[in-house]
Amino acid sequence: MQSYVTIIPMNKKLIVGNWKMNPVTLDEAKKIARKIKRASDSLVSVETVICPPFPFIVSCTSKNESKFFHMGAQSVSVEVDRGPFTGEVSATMLKEIGVKYVIIGHSEQRARGESDSIVSKKVKAVLDAGLSPIICVGEASRDEAGAYLDTLKNQIKQSLADIPAKFSSDIVLAYEPIWAIGAQEAMKNEDIYESSLFVKKVFSDLFGPDAGVKVKVLYGGSVNYRNAPDIIAIGKVDGLLVGRESVNAPGFVELLKAVDLLK
Ligand code: 13P
Repeated sequence: MQSYVTIIPMNKKLIVGNWKMNPVTLDEAKKIARKIKRASDSLVSVETVICPPFPFIVSCTSKNESKFFHMGAQSVSVEVDRGPFTGEVSATMLKEIGVKYVIIGHSEQRARGESDSIVSKKVKAVLDAGLSPIICVGEASRDEAGAYLDTLKNQIKQSLADIPAKFSSDIVLAYEPIWAIGAQEAMKNEDIYESSLFVKKVFSDLFGPDAGVKVKVLYGGSVNYRNAPDIIAIGKVDGLLVGRESVNAPGFVELLKAVDLLK
């Protein structure tokens, strides 16, 4: 199947809003989406993605096509197309409604049983459908000896097991240390830098140095409009995966504008 994944210019920052199970009403969802879309239209160096809950995706999709504002989904079935899989949503269906990105392996899904092997199957399904997976990895805790690096390496390798190299440029990695999700503060910028380099290194071990340089690595965990610019500038990540602040429309719009000002 032909891939229609957008080639993102290298300098564009990828800012992804993971709405999680928010908001409760469709009306509220549409309002948030409209405000974010409007703001994103005036940005020059940011690609914006919003990932509303499944039932709201279509209504949050703007009728006005935009090259740098896209819809994402928060999960997907391991089954590619259709069939007797009650409760599942396939990558083909997501593509059909205009979704471009799919979050896979989020720690909140992993905590409910999404193993690396399931993640790898979902990644394959998403890539086969011509969409881009945003694969989440991150350690539960840090230790002086650096065992968390092995955790990260194993997660990345296993989540990408059996993924052909031809897909490497369609993959996005999101580094989300679990302890920084829903916390008071984000991880220290210097530590984000170290981890994002490590993630790129593991990716390049799998797919080659060129792929390692090109892959987009996002940071996620307690990002807001105040800390976002430094996380990108000092943490040297290619974008952000934002939870709470992404359903707070004024805060998310501020965040997008602040990141857009970075050179
Ligand atoms: P918070 O930004 O609310 O910490 O959530 C991060 C996250 O899990 C994004 O996927």
